Amino acid sequence: MMQIHENLSLRQYNTFGIDAKARLFADFSSLQQLQEILQYAHHVAPRITRMILGGGSNILFTGDVNALVLKNEIRGIEVIREDDTFVYVQSGAGVNWHSFVLHCVQQGWGGVENLSLIPGNAGASPMQNIGAYGVEIKDVFEELEAYHLHDKAVRKFSAADCAFGYRESVFKRIYKEQFVILNVTYRLRKQPVFNTSYGAINQELEKMGVQELSVQSISQAVINIRSSKLPDPKVIGNAGSFFKNPSVSKDQYQQLKQQFHELVAYANADGTMKLAAGWLIEHCGPSATESWKGYRKGDAGCHAKQALVLVNYGTASGKEIYDLSEAILQSVKEKFGVELEREVNVV
Ligand code: FAD
Ligand code: EPU
Repeated sequence: MMQIHENLSLRQYNTFGIDAKARLFADFSSLQQLQEILQYAHHVAPRITRMILGGGSNILFTGDVNALVLKNEIRGIEVIREDDTFVYVQSGAGVNWHSFVLHCVQQGWGGVENLSLIPGNAGASPMQNIGAYGVEIKDVFEELEAYHLHDKAVRKFSAADCAFGYRESVFKRIYKEQFVILNVTYRLRKQPVFNTSYGAINQELEKMGVQELSVQSISQAVINIRSSKLPDPKVIGNAGSFFKNPSVSKDQYQQLKQQFHELVAYANADGTMKLAAGWLIEHCGPSATESWKGYRKGDAGCHAKQALVLVNYGTASGKEIYDLSEAILQSVKEKFGVELEREVNVV
C-alpha cells in the first residue's frame, strides 16, 4: 500500500541523527511501487526534486529537504547463477549490508567478510565503492540494475560502467540522483581466498587465538576491530569517516615527512601517497595547542578514538556538524598544505 508522508522528520532515517524534515517521503519495496509513487508525486508536486535514501549512514542533512525522499526497501537475497569457482548472489538494494555479509559468511562464500559491520544497505554499496580492511566492492561486483528516473527504464551496469575508484563511482558524481539502484549482484568464491593484508586483522586473529583462517574468523576479527574504535551510531550519531584519505605526490609526501616524522601514509599503485586523514586531523586543532581529536562544541564533535569520524552527541544540527568539518578542513590546509575532501554526501 503506497503512502506518502508530508514534512516527515528524517531523524530516525540518518545515522547522524539529524532532525531535518523531508517535504515528501515514501518507501517502496518493488519497482512497481516506486513507479506508483512517482506517478502520484508527479500530480501533486510536478517539479519536485527526488532524493534516494538507503540506510542513511553516509549522509549529512544541513537543513530541511525540499524533495521527495524515496526510501529503498527492496528486499531479497537470491543465487542467480553458479559455476565451478563462483556463486553469483543478487541482493535487493534495501537489504541491510551487514546481514547480507552474515548470510554469505554462513554459507562459507568468500569475498565480503572483510566488509563486515559496515552500516547501510546493499543498494548503496556501489555508490562509493565501499571499502575496508583491504577489500572494496569492486573486487566482488558483478553487475547491478538501476531505474532511470527520467527515461523510466531499467539499465544494467557492469563494473566498467560504474567507473569505481577510491570511495567513488558514476552514481556519486555524474549520475547523482538520476538512477535508483534496484539490486546488486556479487561474485563470491566457493573456495574463499583470504585477504589479511591489513595489519590489524592479523593482530586481531592472533589475539583471538585463531589457528585456521575461515571467512567466519576474518569476519569476527573485522567486527572486533571496528567495534573497538568506531562509534556505534545507535549510541553516538555519526556517518563513519567524514573525509577521504587524501593522496599527494611523492615529492610533497617527502617534504611533509621531513617536517612531520610521525606522518602516516601508504603508497598507492600509481606511486602517489595516501595520507591518513585521521593523523592529520589529530595533529592540528582549533588552536595551536589543542587537537581536534576529542574536541566538542555543543553537541558536534570529533570522535575521541578516531579523529576522522565526526559525531553528533545528541541535538547538533547538520549545519553545526558541517561548520565543524569546514574548520577542520581549513586548519589541515593551513598546517599541512593538504586539502581534505568530504566523503559523506552533504545534502
Ligand atoms: P545512504 O546514506 O542512505 O545513501 C548514501 C548515498 O547513496 C546518497 O547519496 C543516496 O542518495 C545514495 N543511495 C542510497 N541508496 C541508493 C540506491 N538504492 N540507489 C541510488 N542511490 C542510492 N563506508 C565505507 O566505505 N567503509 C567503511 O568502513 C565504512 N564504515 C562506516 C562506519 C560507520 C559507523 C558509519 C556510520 C558509516 C560507515 N561507512 C563506511 C559509510 C556508509 O556505511 C557507507 O557509505 C554505506 O554504503 C552507506 O549506505 P546507506 O544505505 O546508508 O546509504
Ligand atoms: N590515525 C591517527 N589518528 C586517528 C585516526 C587514525 O593517527 O585519530 C592513523 C593511525 O596511524 C592509523 C591510520 O591513521 O593506523 C589509519 O586509521 P584506520 O585504520 O582507522 O583507517 P582510516 O584510514 O582512518 C579507512 C577508511 C574506513 C575503513 C578503514 C579500514 C577512509 C576515508 N576510511 O579509515 O572507512 O573502515 O580505513 O579499512 O578511507 C568510511 O569510509 O566511512 C570508513 C570508516
